[in-house]
Amino acid sequence: MSTWANLGLQDSASPLMEQLIFFHDHALLILVMITVLVGYLMFMLFFNNYINRFLLHGQLIEMIWTILPAIILLFIAFPSLRLLYLLDEINEPSVTLKSIGHQWYWSYEYSDFNNVEFDSYMIPTNEIANDGFRLLDVDNRIVLPMNSQIRILVTAADVIHSWTIPALGVKVDGTPGRLNQTNFFINRPGLFYGQCSEICGANHSFMPIVIESVPVNYF
Ligand code: CUA
Repeated sequence: MSTWANLGLQDSASPLMEQLIFFHDHALLILVMITVLVGYLMFMLFFNNYINRFLLHGQLIEMIWTILPAIILLFIAFPSLRLLYLLDEINEPSVTLKSIGHQWYWSYEYSDFNNVEFDSYMIPTNEIANDGFRLLDVDNRIVLPMNSQIRILVTAADVIHSWTIPALGVKVDGTPGRLNQTNFFINRPGLFYGQCSEICGANHSFMPIVIESVPVNYF
């Protein structure tokens, strides 16, 4: 989970989130290089005294500064597309969890595992345990096995919600009348916190998600 002074991404708990962080760093590095170059050029313009009265066009330089940025953009576009398709790849999930967004709580169904169904409400601040996290803990956690492929089906019963867990790289909208699918693979045990991230009404901030990742034989 995110704690104080954490301005970047959370530590990943899944291979896909790891790839997302790599891509973020890659794109940021390119961005820094562009910013430094353009910043330097703009700064040096202030000290430029050269003037050419007869300069009307420059075919070659126009060509270079049109094509060069296009090539740089390809270095972002191709890894981005790779990731985009990688995120939608489903490889034989061992558990399917259906999460349904309500105003303002989540309910879950393990449709292929004993048909377990339960609601998951945030624990109010006045009832929170001493070691609990305010606005982030729930009464009924989702328990999922680690090191196995998990499929998530997301929908909503009233308005649009969004099932979002930063550490797993998952962010899927729950839309009434639709069923969205995603998948992930948790590669370590622990608690992973998430929140609804679609402005869904007055208590939008108070419908967190908690995943308890456990070894398969404990599941
Ligand atoms: Cu549900 Cu915001």
